[in-house]
Amino acid sequence: MHKKRVFSGVQPTGNLHLGNYLGAIKNFVDLQNKFECVYCIVDLHAITNRQDPKELESNILETVASFVAAGLNPEKNIILNQASVAAHAELAWIFNCVARIGWLNRMTQFKEKAGANKENASVGLMVYPNLMAADILLYKATHVPVGEDQKQHLELTRDIAKKFNNDFNCGEYFPIVEPLIPKEVSRVMSLRDGKKKMSKSEESDQSRINLKDNKDLIDQKIKKAKTDAASIPTEVGGLKNRHEASNLVSIYASLNNIKVENVLKDFGGKNFSTFKSKLSESIIEKICPIGDEINKLLKNKDYLYKILENGSKKADLIAKKNLKEIYDIVGLKKFS
Ligand code: AMP
Ligand code: TRP
Repeated sequence: MHKKRVFSGVQPTGNLHLGNYLGAIKNFVDLQNKFECVYCIVDLHAITNRQDPKELESNILETVASFVAAGLNPEKNIILNQASVAAHAELAWIFNCVARIGWLNRMTQFKEKAGANKENASVGLMVYPNLMAADILLYKATHVPVGEDQKQHLELTRDIAKKFNNDFNCGEYFPIVEPLIPKEVSRVMSLRDGKKKMSKSEESDQSRINLKDNKDLIDQKIKKAKTDAASIPTEVGGLKNRHEASNLVSIYASLNNIKVENVLKDFGGKNFSTFKSKLSESIIEKICPIGDEINKLLKNKDYLYKILENGSKKADLIAKKNLKEIYDIVGLKKFS
């Protein structure tokens, strides 16, 4: 039996938004009281796409600030940046030799990100899920809170763990991880198109609520958010094929920790303008204090760097010990 341990990662690519919060970070905060948790700023994943070095540095700090502002306690959790702990990249290499090309070719995120010209994508983008598996399994984590878009990558992590355990005949050395995906809103969609996920990289800022948006901007974005002509349904079935309506209702449910059914009980039959003003209120109440705190924390860079330094040192102790065991299993020796 493996000791329960939570691991998750967020890319420091700027503009953390409501999707990141409801899909992942809100869950990180809830889990910190129940498990030993490791939360990682995955800077090595970020460079699978070209990053401006100066912007990358400031995005790393902004991600630490967002974690803390959302309620993560840096004393209680290990908060690190991936590049500080060399074992992530070392284990990723081993997994490059365990995972099969066919497995990676099936990854929908790779297909989406590589676009039409797959030949021109970085090799890093292709082996990105192997690095993600290394992040998790380096700490022998058992539970991984993520949004629904990461489910396929976690299935791959399970396949890698099983193949490694089997190839090297080492029992259940690596745990078979459990994804923790939020029920009410596993995928927050764009405010402009209910079929596309809310994303940092979407060109239109109107498509997302950023954690640093102010009250007026949130109000304006929700007012403009796409809906349809019908009113709010009274039953869940009435949301079928109404992507935008369903998204807004799910966001409300998740922010208020209630079920979609209960939102429909309160708002069923009403028009969107009434609902939207309540939704704005809920978003403002939860998100604006986080945005204010991020701005405050960003004024104290030394404090933020200290969090990463302390967290990375703690992580490195676990990582070095586990990597040594893994090298022994594989038959590799490390003399330095
Ligand atoms: P990323 O910004 O891609 O590093 O994502 C960080 C975390 O936020 C991951 O757990 C994602 O699954 C989650 N996430 C990102 N976008 C969304 C979204 N639109 N809805 C729900 N979760 C999301
Ligand atoms: N791939 C994840 C994303 O884009 C980020 C990530 C990297 C991650 N390593 C991880 C998430 C390990 C969970 C566990 O959202």
